[in-house]
Amino acid sequence: MHEGKTNYIAGEWQAARTGETFESVNPAYIEEVLGVYARSRREDVEAAVAAAAKAFPSWRHTPAPKRGAILFRMGQLLERDKEHLARQMVAEMGKVLVEARGDVQEAIDMAYYIAAFGRLPNGSTVPSEREDIYCMAQRVPVGVVGLITPWNFPIAIPSWKMFSALLAGNTIVFKPAEDTPGLGVAFVELLIEAGIPEGVVNIVTGLGPEAGAALVEAPGVATISFTGSTEVGRKIAGRCGELMKRVSCELGGKNAIVVLDDANLELALKGALWSAFGTAGQRCTAASRLIVQRNVMAKFRDELVDRTKALRMGAGADPEAQIGPVVNRTQLERIHSYVEIGRAEGAKPLTGGRILDEGDYAAGCFYAPTILDEVTLGMRVAQEEIFGPVTGLIEVNGLDEALAAANNSQYGLSLSLYTRDVNRAFRAIQELDAGIVYINLPTSGAEIQLPFGGVKNTGNGHREAGWMAMDYCTEWKSVYVNYADTAELVRAQIDT
Ligand code: UN1
Repeated sequence: MHEGKTNYIAGEWQAARTGETFESVNPAYIEEVLGVYARSRREDVEAAVAAAAKAFPSWRHTPAPKRGAILFRMGQLLERDKEHLARQMVAEMGKVLVEARGDVQEAIDMAYYIAAFGRLPNGSTVPSEREDIYCMAQRVPVGVVGLITPWNFPIAIPSWKMFSALLAGNTIVFKPAEDTPGLGVAFVELLIEAGIPEGVVNIVTGLGPEAGAALVEAPGVATISFTGSTEVGRKIAGRCGELMKRVSCELGGKNAIVVLDDANLELALKGALWSAFGTAGQRCTAASRLIVQRNVMAKFRDELVDRTKALRMGAGADPEAQIGPVVNRTQLERIHSYVEIGRAEGAKPLTGGRILDEGDYAAGCFYAPTILDEVTLGMRVAQEEIFGPVTGLIEVNGLDEALAAANNSQYGLSLSLYTRDVNRAFRAIQELDAGIVYINLPTSGAEIQLPFGGVKNTGNGHREAGWMAMDYCTEWKSVYVNYADTAELVRAQIDT
């Protein structure tokens, strides 16, 4: 629709300065080209950063309730276009329709939630140790914020990052994932309709090593927020460290569901099935480890295998489909190579374990939902993020062993435990080393009003969403006011 003019810079849709483009395809039928997008390079990114820097002074002086009102309007527009965006998402990255609607719903919730912050406290007053001195601290925006977002939540994740940054008074350069540029463009079109002024939000489409890297390097960018792999996050955070830029990274996971012998097994089975195979396992909260107490393992395993075999695979647009394709061929092959690694390590596939290449599946990127049995903690399939419909069963003897197994990971995003015993539940809440802990709920399904993010190699100490959503893109300014109209100098900390 924009025919390659997919960069929105300083209020104008434009092509990449080199004229280069790239295509976005449908992972259910990879022959189907959905659109042609600007393949941006450093010059495009720098133009976008300049536009954002130029727009910053007037945007930061726009009253916060007015900034909030634009976000509220954005929420209404996302609601209006929810079905359309969801269908576009199904086509562009493959998730099934009900999940795509949920992705858009997360952005709607975020818009209304953040809009309200326009009228909520923006700082604190504190007492002074001196007479007639007034002390306060307020949040201030950092300036230009660069966003590098993934394809797995192509509407929700940009909304988490962008709405909080905009409400706080920052301006934006947005580089959406190369697998989902169309949704990035659609998101920006709605912001324009919602009334975002020229230059406040700019988008550059393109590839990570080109446009993404240029955004990290661009001198005018004060903060980078990135969601993606730990490997790329480590590079971005390292480079931002050298450049003294603030950086917020939301990276990999190796999430686990623990099922104890007193659990409601039916509930645990439903949770495991959803967290392991929902979104074809392509959530950073996906459960790729199922840690089960020995005396319920046989029952749990048999039931889980039966239910996994019964899952209906298909293009996300098919209302019968429960699991869609994975995002592209590279991911498909990477997922399969992990299953092969697992086999070589001694894990036993009970179902799945193959690329689907019969009938309609051959045209797309479909991987059979896979359960690996006899997984042990030292195996690579127990330690590395697979990001596909593959989960491993790990047997343990009791609560202590289960908690130790769950924590045996370089990652710490989302951990879950099923039990009916309040003592065990609270032990788990205390001991599980993760940013998000669930009791009797699956590892996926975070709500936007709680902080989202993880410990260890999952991140670098930041959280998205929740009431601290503005932390990553604001600084604190402390202010002291002397209102005593005298000539006396009263110094702090000095005894008089
Ligand atoms: C992600 O996969 O990066 O809790 C985000 C969940 C979703 C968000 C996942 N609300 O699974």
